[in-house]
Parts: sequence; structure tokens; C-alpha cells
Amino acid sequence: MADVSLAAIRKTYGALEVIKGVDLEIKSGEFVVFVGPSGCGKSTLLRMIAGLEDISSGTLTIGGQQMNDVDPSKRGLAMVFQTYALYPHMTVEQNMGFALRFAGMEKSEIDRRVADAAKILELDALMTRKPGQLSGGQRQRVAIGRAIVRQPDVFLFDEPLSNLDAELRVNMRIEIARLHKELNTTIIYVTHDQVEAMTLADKIVVLRAGKVEQVGTPLSLYDDPDNMFVAGFIGSPKMNFLPATIVDRQNGQVTIALATQAETKLTLPISDAVTLGQNVNLGIRPEHFLAEGQGDAQLSVEVDVSENLGSTSFLYAKLRGGEPLIVEQRQRQIGARQTSVTLGLSAATCLLFDADGKRLK
Ligand SMILES: Nc1ncnc2c1ncn2[C@@H]1O[C@H](COP(=O)(O)OP(=O)(O)OP(=O)(O)O)[C@@H](O)[C@H]1O
Ligand SMILES: [Mg+2]
Repeated sequence: MADVSLAAIRKTYGALEVIKGVDLEIKSGEFVVFVGPSGCGKSTLLRMIAGLEDISSGTLTIGGQQMNDVDPSKRGLAMVFQTYALYPHMTVEQNMGFALRFAGMEKSEIDRRVADAAKILELDALMTRKPGQLSGGQRQRVAIGRAIVRQPDVFLFDEPLSNLDAELRVNMRIEIARLHKELNTTIIYVTHDQVEAMTLADKIVVLRAGKVEQVGTPLSLYDDPDNMFVAGFIGSPKMNFLPATIVDRQNGQVTIALATQAETKLTLPISDAVTLGQNVNLGIRPEHFLAEGQGDAQLSVEVDVSENLGSTSFLYAKLRGGEPLIVEQRQRQIGARQTSVTLGLSAATCLLFDADGKRLK
């Protein structure tokens, strides 16, 4: 177990800066998930922690020790990659013990650790097979097993489940959660998957173009995002942003009217400074629309497409000005295609952002 601390970490490739000053404190035993759009620097940051990329400037400490120039094998961590990188000519058992044999560990100790990891990952029955004789999920477990036997202080995972089909992904996700509970090791995990991030993380780090946008528990980012980027990135389908204008303000209350449907007005508790006529964006999550007649305001939309998923349905709709929005409904859409729908809005579940995307509170 070890704390990991990043202070003013930067990475440049020639003139190109891809990590632009990252500060981050990861506590011992914490499960931290990095999310962000493709190319924002998640893998680069992970590889810098692992020692697979040089750190251009800043300080990395693991367990209180500065690690910038320490060899990857001496940092007390183990990394699991998206492509499992197993040795095809070795058995499961040999793959799992390889790093320990390479380090010159005694055979009895290697056997003990490999057997322990095999039990945790339920690989006992597969020890003599080669990677080519395993399913994707089994290969993934061997790759994790290979990391476990090294008894690292910190596990690094870079999109470990992205090559698996939907059902296996769910199983492996639960297995990784169980593993974390059992070993209580610090984990840093990169994923594109909303559900993995929300369910596995103690703490999510949202990255954008080499910078940290916001750090917080999954629910704090979901309920209380600092800006439109985080609000739009966390949650699936993503939050709707409806252009609006401030039409009244008094005593910590702000009233907005939608830009293209001014009859839809909503009053929100906002104490940040705003001006009359200011352009803002009203944020509302797809699941927060109410039935007609409910809530604090009504909103008419035209439905383009509706999808029934069994437990929920999604309406892909438009405002009068053509702005798209997605509505999630718990009940099924029944009967003929409905094109015009009136929805209720509740001020308590809406967020407000200024024209630059900063949250107004
Ligand atoms: N060796 C390199 N030379 C120059 N630029 C690089 C190099 N490696 C990565 N980059 C750039 O650094 C940026 C961050 O890349 P990185 O692989 O960390 O992104 P990522 O967030 O992991 O993306 P993805 O979600 O697609 O895996 C990208 O713009 C990428 O093109
Ligand atoms: Mg990556």
C-alpha cells in the first residue's frame, strides 16, 4: 500500500505539451479512475507514473519517496494493459510467474504466490493451458494474475476491459471491485466506460487536454459538476444543455427563459453575480424530465425517434429552435408514435452554466 502524489507534472514531446501541470493526491488503498476524451493524456499520465515515459518536469512520489528517476521495476507497481501482452509460448502458470523468475525469486515462493493468485482469480483449472487456448476474459484474468503475484503497492490499469464483450466486461468489473476489496491496494485505472468509472472509483479524475478539470467522488461529480465539460462528460446519455437568457433576478433567485421557447421560465436559487439578458445554459439530465403537468415549468418538444429498451425508453427530441435533447423515461412509450410531447421541469434538478460553461451557483 502506498500514497501516490503528483506535483506540477508536465510532459512535452518536442514542442508539444501533452500534460500541462497535473497536481493529484492519491491516498493509500484508494481506487482512482482517470476519464477524459481520447487524446487528453490518460495513458501518458499512467505511463509516467509507471516509469515507461520520462517526466518532463514536476515531482512524482510513491510511498513518500521521489520516483522521477527510479527504474520502473523498483517503483513497487504493476501495470495491466489493454492488450494483455501474454507470452504465447508459455503456459498460464509460466506467464504468471515470469516476472518473479526473472527477478531470481526462489521457486517455492514463486509457486506459492502463483497458486494464491490463481485461487483469487479462479484460474486453478487453466494453469497448463497456453494463452491461445483461453477466452478473452480468461486471458484478462491471467494478465491481472501476473500483476498480483508481484504484490505491488500500486496497480495501474489502462482500459483493461475494453477488448471484452458486454457480459464479460460486467463480470470482470465485479471481479476487479472484489480484488480491490480483498487486496486493499492503491489502484489507478483508466477507462472510457461510464459505468466502470461510476461503480469502481472512490475518486474520479476528469482530464481534458492535459489538465485536470475536476476531481471528486462519482456522485459529487454527477450531482455537483464545476462546469459544462464535467457535467457533459459524467453521465450517459449525457446532460442536455438548453440555451437560455436571464430575465429576472432578486434575493438570490434567478429566473431564466429558454432562448427559443421564452414561455418556458424557471426560477433557480443562484447567488453568483449575473446580469439581466445574460446568455446562459440550462443543464438537465435525461432522467430528470417529469410528466406533463408536474414540476415548476412545462416544456414542449418534438420527438424525432423513440427507443424502447424494456426497462426505460429514450426520446430523441428537439426544441422549437432545433436544439436537440434526450429524454429518459421509466415507462414505456406505448401506442402510435407521438410527435409532440410536453414535459415537466423541476428547478431542483436543473443546473445553470454561464456562456463559457462555468457553473453558476
Ligand atoms: N510519442 C509521442 N509523441 C508525440 N505525441 C504523443 C506521443 N505519445 C502520445 N502523444 C500525444 O499525447 C496526447 C495524449 O495521448 P494519450 O495516449 O495519453 O491519450 P489518452 O487520453 O490515453 O487517449 P485514448 O483515450 O485515445 O487512449 C495525444 O494527443 C497523443 O497524440
Ligand atoms: Mg489511452
